[in-house]
Amino acid sequence: MLFKRKEKYTLDMNRIPAHIAFIMDGNGRWAKKRKMPRTYGHHEGTKTIRNLALEANNLGVKAMTVYAFSTENFKREQSEVEYIFKLPKEFFSLYFQELMDNNVRIMTIGHLELAPQETQDIINDAINKTKDNTGLKLVFAFIYGGRDEIVEATKAICEEYKEGKIDLDNITEDYFESHLMTKELPPVDLMIRSSGECRLSNFLLWQLSYAEFIFDDAYWPDFNAEKLHECIWKYQNRDRRYGGVKK
Ligand code: FPP
Repeated sequence: MLFKRKEKYTLDMNRIPAHIAFIMDGNGRWAKKRKMPRTYGHHEGTKTIRNLALEANNLGVKAMTVYAFSTENFKREQSEVEYIFKLPKEFFSLYFQELMDNNVRIMTIGHLELAPQETQDIINDAINKTKDNTGLKLVFAFIYGGRDEIVEATKAICEEYKEGKIDLDNITEDYFESHLMTKELPPVDLMIRSSGECRLSNFLLWQLSYAEFIFDDAYWPDFNAEKLHECIWKYQNRDRRYGGVKK
């Protein structure tokens, strides 16, 4: 089918973005509006991840990366940090089977090794069980920071140079990219941040160089499949020139 109609946004199924990255913002404000603790917002936010992953998978999106915990999020109250680290258990106990049945592959970028052992085990179990799935790659950026990722890649390349494995001429953009945590993923076409904030917050700094950005006012727990269609529709109506000139 060439076009798929959903609500008022008609999508060109031949130009679905390969990789969509989400900054899931506004969980705290969503909860506060309802006089609930911030953690309730995070809890509701996991439903949005499930809904969008299934919809993205149906649309043929190859990868969806969600910013679940940044290197800076450790500055939050300990109780909130502990709560977020418990969310994978809840998320996978509720949604693992459905994601598996839909051929979704779970992956992570970031420093999962810094999470509590139980959190690591739960996420690694989901990664292992879904490693042969060929549908959407659902990537959790967990204890992730864009600057840190660039520094890590630089260090790895310096080691190779020091050991005489490469020359300076080998260090191209493609070579650098092959040392990033996202090396198995397609380039990011579209970055969506919820809650109306307009900043990158140290997310995928290299990878977003040529992505289209959409800042949507909805708080993350309210961001739904229709919003996803709206964003893809906006993306498809943009003119991507990659520094060139429109023909
Ligand atoms: C931002 O809202 C959201 C977060 C810091 C992370 C929430 C994480 C999840 C929903 C996913 C958990 C991970 C897995 C693996 C299921 P905010 O608290 O900054 O909102 P505010 O700006 O309104 O305060």
